[in-house]
Amino acid sequence: MKKLLRIDSSPRKNSSISRQLADVLQEKIENLGNHTTVSRDVYYDDLIKLGNEDSVTAYFTPVNQQTEIQREAITASNTLATEFADADTYLFAVPMYNFGVTAGLKAYIDLIARAGISFKYTENGPEGLLKGKKAYVIITTGGTKLGTEVDYVSGYMTTFLNFVGITDIEFINSDQVMVNAEKILSDAKEEINELIIK
Ligand SMILES: Cc1cc2nc3c(=O)[nH]c(=O)nc-3n(C[C@H](O)[C@H](O)[C@H](O)COP(=O)(O)O)c2cc1C
Repeated sequence: MKKLLRIDSSPRKNSSISRQLADVLQEKIENLGNHTTVSRDVYYDDLIKLGNEDSVTAYFTPVNQQTEIQREAITASNTLATEFADADTYLFAVPMYNFGVTAGLKAYIDLIARAGISFKYTENGPEGLLKGKKAYVIITTGGTKLGTEVDYVSGYMTTFLNFVGITDIEFINSDQVMVNAEKILSDAKEEINELIIK
């Protein structure tokens, strides 16, 4: 069985468009019958509190030289980063907030982009370790058109995923939902239905 890791990042639980679309795509992937799903709700996991002086120092300290306090401080990041690295398929539900990703998703990415787990340093610079995996990225915006120069979500997600070695990325854009929510939602659902998923 392959592992599907679903990452939600909207603070809205009931009326979230990114979550609704991710539900449709998750169901489609699960219907293949070859994936088990693990979910992370990164806006609600209070991840920002997991970063501190000790955890960040531990990122750059070899395990056998870490203090007990540093080892403890880095435990949650280890768990999240290992879970991320273990997945085969990713489903990101990404609302645009003030032209970027939400604080919860940024905090999550800061915890999972870890040398030795998701990338490594080489003589030629950093190299992603998560090769041969697939990511689906659903992006929702209220009024901003994706692909314009104020879109700091699409490029950021591409850069981060490429950085950790994930280059097979499928974007499902659901932008400018405030213009015509119903049509944009149904178009995005249609796009998901037409995706060929293996
Ligand atoms: C705090 C906040 C900031 C937002 N910033 C933007 C923005 O910069 N550009 C935009 O197009 N929409 C923005 N929106 C609208 C959201 O992107 C839109 O409501 C989207 O559907 C949110 O995703 P969700 O439906 O999954 O919660 C913002 C909404 C909130 C609450």
